[in-house]
Amino acid sequence: MRIESAEFIRSAVGEGDFPRDGLPQVAFVGRSNVGKSSLLNKLLGRRLARTSSTPGRTRAVNLFLVNRCAYFADLPGYGYAKAGRADREAWAALIDTYLRSAAPRVILLVDAKVGATELDQQAYEYLQRLGAVVQVAVTKIDKLPRGRWKPTVAAIRRTLAAAEDTAVIPISAATGDGIRELWSELDAHFAAGKREKV
Ligand code: GTP
Ligand code: MG
Repeated sequence: MRIESAEFIRSAVGEGDFPRDGLPQVAFVGRSNVGKSSLLNKLLGRRLARTSSTPGRTRAVNLFLVNRCAYFADLPGYGYAKAGRADREAWAALIDTYLRSAAPRVILLVDAKVGATELDQQAYEYLQRLGAVVQVAVTKIDKLPRGRWKPTVAAIRRTLAAAEDTAVIPISAATGDGIRELWSELDAHFAAGKREKV
Protein backbone atom coordinates (compact mmCIF):
# COMPACT_ATOMS: atom_id res chain seq x y z
CA MET A 1 0.00 0.00 0.00
CA ARG A 2 1.29 3.45 -0.81
CA ILE A 3 0.89 5.63 2.23
CA GLU A 4 -0.81 8.84 1.25
CA SER A 5 -1.99 9.86 4.67
CA ALA A 6 -1.48 8.66 8.22
CA GLU A 7 -2.73 10.42 11.27
CA PHE A 8 -2.95 9.85 14.98
CA ILE A 9 -6.60 9.52 15.99
CA ARG A 10 -6.60 8.97 19.73
CA SER A 11 -5.29 7.05 22.71
CA ALA A 12 -8.15 4.71 23.51
CA VAL A 13 -8.54 3.75 27.16
CA GLY A 14 -11.95 2.09 26.98
CA GLU A 15 -14.45 0.51 24.62
CA GLY A 16 -16.15 3.83 23.89
CA ASP A 17 -12.94 5.11 22.30
CA PHE A 18 -12.64 2.33 19.71
CA PRO A 19 -13.55 3.09 16.07
CA ARG A 20 -17.03 2.10 15.00
CA ASP A 21 -16.86 2.81 11.30
CA GLY A 22 -16.13 -0.80 10.31
CA LEU A 23 -12.77 -0.08 8.64
CA PRO A 24 -10.21 -2.92 8.80
CA GLN A 25 -7.72 -2.75 11.65
CA VAL A 26 -4.21 -4.05 12.25
CA ALA A 27 -3.01 -4.48 15.83
CA PHE A 28 0.62 -4.62 17.00
CA VAL A 29 0.94 -7.07 19.89
CA GLY A 30 4.05 -8.11 21.81
CA ARG A 31 6.31 -7.79 24.81
CA SER A 32 7.14 -4.40 26.11
CA ASN A 33 10.19 -3.01 24.26
CA VAL A 34 9.94 -5.61 21.45
CA GLY A 35 9.63 -2.82 18.86
CA LYS A 36 5.87 -2.40 18.21
CA SER A 37 5.85 1.38 17.92
CA SER A 38 9.06 1.34 15.85
CA LEU A 39 7.60 -1.19 13.39
CA LEU A 40 4.37 0.77 13.06
CA ASN A 41 6.37 3.90 12.26
CA LYS A 42 8.53 2.03 9.74
CA LEU A 43 5.50 0.58 7.95
CA LEU A 44 3.97 4.05 7.68
CA GLY A 45 7.24 5.78 6.84
CA ARG A 46 6.52 8.36 9.52
CA ARG A 47 7.40 8.86 13.15
CA LEU A 48 3.88 8.87 14.49
CA ALA A 49 4.00 6.41 17.39
CA ARG A 50 6.18 7.25 20.35
CA THR A 51 9.11 4.87 20.77
CA SER A 52 11.30 4.58 23.80
CA SER A 53 14.18 2.61 25.22
CA THR A 54 12.20 2.63 28.50
CA PRO A 55 9.82 -0.35 28.44
CA GLY A 56 6.16 0.17 29.25
CA ARG A 57 5.89 3.42 27.36
CA THR A 58 2.66 2.70 25.48
CA ARG A 59 -0.20 2.43 27.97
CA ALA A 60 -3.31 2.94 25.88
CA VAL A 61 -4.47 1.59 22.53
CA ASN A 62 -3.02 4.26 20.24
CA LEU A 63 -5.03 4.43 17.04
CA PHE A 64 -3.75 5.70 13.70
CA LEU A 65 -5.84 6.11 10.56
CA VAL A 66 -3.98 5.09 7.39
CA ASN A 67 -5.05 6.35 3.93
CA ARG A 68 -8.46 6.91 5.51
CA CYS A 69 -9.14 3.23 4.92
CA ALA A 70 -7.60 1.25 7.81
CA TYR A 71 -6.60 1.65 11.42
CA PHE A 72 -3.27 0.67 12.93
CA ALA A 73 -3.47 0.04 16.67
CA ASP A 74 -0.32 0.27 18.79
CA LEU A 75 -1.05 -1.76 21.92
CA PRO A 76 0.56 -1.64 25.36
CA GLY A 77 3.27 -4.30 25.68
CA TYR A 78 3.01 -7.26 28.03
CA GLY A 79 5.63 -8.64 30.40
CA TYR A 80 6.74 -5.28 31.73
CA ALA A 81 8.36 -6.35 35.01
CA LYS A 82 8.17 -3.02 36.77
CA ALA A 83 4.46 -2.50 36.17
CA GLY A 84 2.30 -3.10 39.23
CA ARG A 85 -0.22 -5.91 39.19
CA ALA A 86 -3.17 -3.52 38.97
CA ASP A 87 -1.61 -1.80 35.94
CA ARG A 88 -0.88 -5.12 34.26
CA GLU A 89 -4.44 -6.32 34.79
CA ALA A 90 -5.89 -3.06 33.50
CA TRP A 91 -3.78 -3.25 30.31
CA ALA A 92 -4.65 -6.91 29.77
CA ALA A 93 -8.35 -6.10 30.13
CA LEU A 94 -8.03 -3.18 27.71
CA ILE A 95 -6.21 -5.32 25.13
CA ASP A 96 -8.75 -8.12 25.48
CA THR A 97 -11.69 -5.73 25.05
CA TYR A 98 -10.06 -4.14 22.03
CA LEU A 99 -9.20 -7.44 20.31
CA ARG A 100 -12.68 -8.85 20.86
CA SER A 101 -14.56 -5.79 19.72
CA ALA A 102 -12.36 -4.67 16.81
CA ALA A 103 -11.36 -8.17 15.57
CA PRO A 104 -8.20 -6.75 13.98
CA ARG A 105 -5.62 -8.60 11.97
CA VAL A 106 -2.71 -9.06 14.39
CA ILE A 107 1.01 -8.67 14.00
CA LEU A 108 2.61 -10.53 16.92
CA LEU A 109 6.14 -9.30 17.48
CA VAL A 110 8.89 -11.52 18.87
CA ASP A 111 12.41 -10.26 19.59
CA ALA A 112 15.01 -12.03 17.41
CA LYS A 113 17.62 -12.07 20.16
CA VAL A 114 15.31 -13.03 23.02
CA GLY A 115 13.33 -15.63 21.04
CA ALA A 116 9.76 -16.63 21.80
CA THR A 117 9.18 -16.44 25.55
CA GLU A 118 6.49 -18.21 27.54
CA LEU A 119 4.42 -15.01 27.45
CA ASP A 120 4.78 -14.93 23.65
CA GLN A 121 3.56 -18.54 23.49
CA GLN A 122 0.58 -17.65 25.68
CA ALA A 123 -0.16 -14.59 23.54
CA TYR A 124 -0.09 -16.68 20.35
CA GLU A 125 -2.40 -19.33 21.84
CA TYR A 126 -4.75 -16.69 23.12
CA LEU A 127 -4.89 -15.02 19.69
CA GLN A 128 -5.58 -18.37 18.05
CA ARG A 129 -8.42 -18.96 20.49
CA LEU A 130 -9.85 -15.55 19.62
CA GLY A 131 -9.77 -16.60 15.99
CA ALA A 132 -7.50 -13.71 15.00
CA VAL A 133 -5.50 -13.82 11.77
CA VAL A 134 -1.95 -13.57 13.06
CA GLN A 135 1.37 -12.96 11.40
CA VAL A 136 4.59 -12.98 13.37
CA ALA A 137 7.25 -10.31 12.94
CA VAL A 138 10.67 -11.30 14.29
CA THR A 139 12.01 -7.90 15.32
CA LYS A 140 15.48 -6.33 15.57
CA ILE A 141 16.82 -8.89 13.11
CA ASP A 142 19.64 -6.42 12.36
CA LYS A 143 21.17 -7.53 15.66
CA LEU A 144 21.84 -10.99 14.24
CA PRO A 145 24.18 -11.92 11.37
CA ARG A 146 22.27 -12.93 8.22
CA GLY A 147 23.31 -16.56 8.64
CA ARG A 148 21.30 -16.73 11.88
CA TRP A 149 18.04 -15.41 10.40
CA LYS A 150 16.62 -18.67 9.04
CA PRO A 151 17.36 -20.81 12.12
CA THR A 152 16.04 -18.04 14.38
CA VAL A 153 12.78 -17.81 12.45
CA ALA A 154 12.48 -21.62 12.48
CA ALA A 155 13.08 -21.79 16.24
CA ILE A 156 10.45 -19.13 16.92
CA ARG A 157 7.98 -20.92 14.66
CA ARG A 158 8.61 -24.14 16.61
CA THR A 159 8.39 -22.57 20.05
CA LEU A 160 5.12 -20.85 19.22
CA ALA A 161 3.83 -24.02 17.54
CA ALA A 162 2.76 -21.63 14.80
CA ALA A 163 0.11 -22.79 12.38
CA GLU A 164 1.27 -23.40 8.81
CA ASP A 165 -0.68 -20.44 7.49
CA THR A 166 0.94 -18.08 10.04
CA ALA A 167 3.66 -16.10 8.25
CA VAL A 168 6.82 -15.58 10.34
CA ILE A 169 8.83 -12.70 8.89
CA PRO A 170 12.18 -11.35 10.09
CA ILE A 171 12.12 -7.55 10.16
CA SER A 172 14.18 -4.59 11.22
CA ALA A 173 12.76 -1.16 11.87
CA ALA A 174 16.37 0.04 11.84
CA THR A 175 17.41 -1.22 8.38
CA GLY A 176 13.99 -1.79 6.74
CA ASP A 177 14.63 -5.50 6.17
CA GLY A 178 11.38 -7.47 5.86
CA ILE A 179 9.16 -4.39 5.67
CA ARG A 180 8.21 -5.05 2.04
CA GLU A 181 7.34 -8.69 2.84
CA LEU A 182 5.18 -7.60 5.76
CA TRP A 183 3.40 -5.05 3.57
CA SER A 184 2.63 -7.61 0.90
CA GLU A 185 0.96 -9.80 3.57
CA LEU A 186 -1.06 -6.81 4.78
CA ASP A 187 -2.02 -5.74 1.26
CA ALA A 188 -3.33 -9.25 0.55
CA HIS A 189 -5.40 -9.01 3.73
CA PHE A 190 -6.87 -5.63 2.86
CA ALA A 191 -7.64 -6.81 -0.68
CA ALA A 192 -9.40 -9.90 0.71
CA GLY A 193 -11.39 -7.66 3.10
CA LYS A 194 -12.55 -5.51 0.18
CA ARG A 195 -13.58 -8.56 -1.86
CA GLU A 196 -15.61 -9.89 1.06
CA LYS A 197 -17.56 -6.65 1.25
CA VAL A 198 -18.55 -6.67 -2.43
P1 GTP B 1 6.41 -0.49 24.57
O1 GTP B 1 5.62 0.64 23.98
O2 GTP B 1 7.13 -0.14 25.82
O3 GTP B 1 5.61 -1.74 24.72
O4 GTP B 1 7.63 -0.82 23.55
P2 GTP B 1 7.57 -1.07 21.97
O5 GTP B 1 7.32 -2.50 21.69
O6 GTP B 1 6.66 -0.09 21.29
O7 GTP B 1 9.10 -0.79 21.54
P3 GTP B 1 9.71 0.49 20.79
O8 GTP B 1 9.27 0.55 19.38
O9 GTP B 1 9.49 1.71 21.63
O10 GTP B 1 11.26 0.09 20.76
C1 GTP B 1 11.95 -0.25 21.94
C2 GTP B 1 13.46 -0.07 21.73
O11 GTP B 1 13.92 -0.98 20.73
C3 GTP B 1 13.82 1.33 21.21
O12 GTP B 1 15.04 1.71 21.84
C4 GTP B 1 14.01 1.13 19.73
O13 GTP B 1 14.91 2.04 19.15
C5 GTP B 1 14.58 -0.28 19.68
N1 GTP B 1 14.23 -0.95 18.40
C6 GTP B 1 13.00 -1.10 17.87
N2 GTP B 1 13.03 -1.75 16.68
C7 GTP B 1 14.35 -2.01 16.44
C8 GTP B 1 15.05 -2.67 15.36
O14 GTP B 1 14.49 -3.15 14.37
N3 GTP B 1 16.40 -2.78 15.48
C9 GTP B 1 17.08 -2.28 16.57
N4 GTP B 1 18.40 -2.45 16.61
N5 GTP B 1 16.46 -1.65 17.60
C10 GTP B 1 15.12 -1.51 17.54
MG1 MG C 1 5.32 1.26 22.12
